[in-house]
Amino acid sequence: MYKIPANTLFIGQKLIFVPECQSTNTLLAELATTASLPEGSVVITSSQTAGRGQRGNVWLSTTGLNLTFSILLRPSFMAAQQQFQLTIAVSLALCEFLKSLGLNETKIKWPNDILVNKKKMGGILIENSIQGDRIQQSVVGIGLNINQIEFDLATATSLKLQTNQSYDLNEVLHQLVPLIESAYLQLRSGNNNRLRTAYLQNLYGLNTLLPFETQGKRVDGIIQDIDEHGRLIIAHSSSRKAYEMKEVTFIL
Ligand code: BTN
Repeated sequence: MYKIPANTLFIGQKLIFVPECQSTNTLLAELATTASLPEGSVVITSSQTAGRGQRGNVWLSTTGLNLTFSILLRPSFMAAQQQFQLTIAVSLALCEFLKSLGLNETKIKWPNDILVNKKKMGGILIENSIQGDRIQQSVVGIGLNINQIEFDLATATSLKLQTNQSYDLNEVLHQLVPLIESAYLQLRSGNNNRLRTAYLQNLYGLNTLLPFETQGKRVDGIIQDIDEHGRLIIAHSSSRKAYEMKEVTFIL
């Protein structure tokens, strides 16, 4: 069903398709411990029985309609404390891809939800293995809603819902992976500042007063920045705080 992309150096040059699995992140991590998989190996499936999202959430996707895949990276050039750079690179690649299809209202909701017209089209789950102070291995899981038009959540959307067109999943994959590879190579060549600036330019809610939930309370604030650890910097009326992922949620 899926072909090896002709337009990448290493991402997807080893492509493992399984019709069904629990989670491509889990399967790829397991395979990486038992086989010598090259960097850039991809595990892709039509159906996940236990797809995983951020913050322990599940990732639901109707069989055969969307992209659900994971990429094996070995970013040992990155220090563990720089892990957010990878989030930046991958979210930007997804954002860039959707914008290339004319979806100009594509934004990244911190840390890495991909929103189109304020609805979630994609999500990223990056699971790193750290050795010493280096990232030894990274499993980058991507879920992108393509042809699904019915969702349990009113806040979800897909490419088809946004454009009224159906897409060939293999073609979408082949358009997307070179962008991910290019962003990763920029990271590898130390282009972090450019990536960070582009991430901020695409960040949902930057410089806008928004409601958030933190410690069970609603607070208003303005997103001003992200710091070097990837924490969200929010200015409140009388304070400025840096939030970890678990500490704050958006009230959409
Ligand atoms: C999120 O937004 O919460 C992240 C969702 C990540 C979903 C993808 S689908 C492919 C890979 N395998 C998983 O179990 N999760 C990721």
